[in-house]
Amino acid sequence: MTSLTGKVAIVTGASRGIGLAIAKALVREGVRLGLLFRSRPAVPGDFVSCDFADLEQIPAAVGQLVERLGTVDFLINNAGTFLEKPTPGLPLADWERVQRVNLTAPFLITREVLPRMITRQQGRIIKRITTLSRTTYGLSATAHGSGIPTLKSMTSLIAPNTVPAMARKRMSHLYGRGAAAVNSGAVTAAAAT
Ligand SMILES: NC(=O)c1ccc[n+]([C@@H]2O[C@H](COP(=O)([O-])OP(=O)(O)OC[C@H]3O[C@@H](n4cnc5c(N)ncnc54)[C@H](OP(=O)(O)O)[C@@H]3O)[C@@H](O)[C@H]2O)c1
Repeated sequence: MTSLTGKVAIVTGASRGIGLAIAKALVREGVRLGLLFRSRPAVPGDFVSCDFADLEQIPAAVGQLVERLGTVDFLINNAGTFLEKPTPGLPLADWERVQRVNLTAPFLITREVLPRMITRQQGRIIKRITTLSRTTYGLSATAHGSGIPTLKSMTSLIAPNTVPAMARKRMSHLYGRGAAAVNSGAVTAAAAT
């Protein structure tokens, strides 16, 4: 496998769970981390705090982090929130918060990072997505689940159109794509770390 030593990655949601496991794995591979966080992750790196529910914070926070890092080779849009609440009576504010954190925040972060990757003709964007069991969650996961197809579409539209030369050469390999949506299935915090 190609060495990742010296590469730079922004990881969101690395305070726990899958994001923490990804961050630790990248550190082991010699990757320098930039962490956009709400609760500070216990990994070495450059940190900028940002609550993704407050979309206004995002462009400046990403800009500040990229400025410090100098460059970005990988963007891991991992942060997300889960809401299990029945659709009947689901408050609009809850619906909107979930869409802000899970859908609009990754868009805004990607929007800030992508131009630099396009200029360099180098970079990878990975979005953590999910699938939800209709039988387990059904009406209780509409806020969480409804954004998933949009995230998949966004990722698949970005993938072949950002770094076309690289994407064409190595389309079938995850790290050879401009962007990829990764679905790991269900993962517990203990399994992730
Ligand atoms: N676990 C699974 O089985 C599974 C399966 C498929 C997909 N996923 C997706 O994979 C991602 C990680 O899953 P996980 O189970 O590791 O999640 P998790 O343990 O709940 O961790 C979520 C991370 O996102 C951060 N986050 C949440 N809301 C935020 C906000 N408003 N602003 C900034 N950061 C925020 C959390 O920070 P705080 O510590 O501050 O809350 C935390 O670091 C999520 O997007 C999830 O939807 C999970």
